[in-house]
Amino acid sequence: MTAVSLALMTAASALQGVVRVPGDKSLSHRALMFGAVAHGQTVIMNLLDSDDIQSTMRAMQALGVVIETDVDRVIVQGAGWTSFHQPNMPLEMGNSGTTTRLLFGLLACQPFPLIFTGDTSLSRRPMQRVLQPLQQMGLKQVGRATTLPVTLAPNRELKGIIYTLPVASAQVKSALILAALQAKTPTKIIEPLASRDHTENLLAHFGVSIIKTGVSLQIEPGQQLIGQRVNIPGDFSSAAFWLTAGILVPGSVITLPRVGVNPTRIGFARALIRMGASIEFFVDEGESDAISGELIATLRATPTPLRAITVEAAEVPSMIDELPLLVLVATQAQGETVIRGAAELRHKETDRITDVAVQLNQLGAKIDILPDGFRIHGGTPLSVAEAVCLDSRGDHRLGMMLMIAALVTQAPQGIRLRGAEAITVSYPNFMADLAQLQR
Ligand code: S3P
Repeated sequence: MTAVSLALMTAASALQGVVRVPGDKSLSHRALMFGAVAHGQTVIMNLLDSDDIQSTMRAMQALGVVIETDVDRVIVQGAGWTSFHQPNMPLEMGNSGTTTRLLFGLLACQPFPLIFTGDTSLSRRPMQRVLQPLQQMGLKQVGRATTLPVTLAPNRELKGIIYTLPVASAQVKSALILAALQAKTPTKIIEPLASRDHTENLLAHFGVSIIKTGVSLQIEPGQQLIGQRVNIPGDFSSAAFWLTAGILVPGSVITLPRVGVNPTRIGFARALIRMGASIEFFVDEGESDAISGELIATLRATPTPLRAITVEAAEVPSMIDELPLLVLVATQAQGETVIRGAAELRHKETDRITDVAVQLNQLGAKIDILPDGFRIHGGTPLSVAEAVCLDSRGDHRLGMMLMIAALVTQAPQGIRLRGAEAITVSYPNFMADLAQLQR
């Protein structure tokens, strides 16, 4: 791994301008997968071009799906649930948990064996949470692996189940929905807390109806997807880095057009507003209608004094990927911020409880590690007298959060970041967008 220098990124430089964040990662995975099992052509605009989406795209192609890439669109030739061909090598999932877990569901009923492999980080992440309920539906697995590599045995029949998810996980929920559509009998899924609902929204766009009552979903099998045009909104999780920079770096004004602001995704913005942050939303009704049931807005962030808050478990799923940024913001807010009910962070690309605290504490933050979250002693100026080398630990979101942290750290000797290349997992243009804001 290479280390990039973050020297000279200090509190002195205001960030001003407009950033068009890349397409939403969750929706990009789903658009490719749903396009593949739909009947007819799916045309995707603003598909995210990143390592994780390449993992999904390559897996689809290895299964025989025809995908054409044009200048401003990607076209998937859908041929229904039974159109996949047996790949001649293992399906390589790279770093992508979403690709892996959703594909277990999408491919649960294929008449040939399938081997899934992944990188070191992904091979440590728990897969039992999705394999176990899928096995209840009839999925067959060779061996008992609970982490990658996993081998699925040929299977032709699935049955519906009634299943209460033990943890709120959109990935597990989505895998079960995809398997349920291929089952012989209906399925009911109950979530402990609402997780992101992109699968439900996008399936509705493809013509599938799922009945939602409170936190329970009823899925009738035998529904066919019809190919569609899908225009992917900007990724709120990528916008979150600039919202953070915009509220923390003095003198900044950052505008983010065309960001997806699905209510199940924007808990981070709600938390920032509770802290006193100036985040403006300009909802674009016209655009929103055109984009598969997802709400779109232009966001604008400017600095204001911030105060500490408490974050409880019920809010966590709506800000799961943004919690590292919330911890950074809390270091700059007056008072003690406590985040509980976030043990899921330990199962992300890294243990995002320990790693976020350890890395930020190197910059002078005062963050206590809790079993399921953080206690952050706020109002601490970030500053390091000696040269320091931080580490993304191969985690894209940790790496980008640390680059934003460097912007508000007094570091006369400069800050270096090992493993900065991890950002290509979700936001390859991150450094260029930062440079543009600094001009
Ligand atoms: C995702 C769901 C979340 C999130 C991940 C993407 C998705 O995971 O952390 O980055 O696209 O469904 P869980 O819902 O499993 O927590």
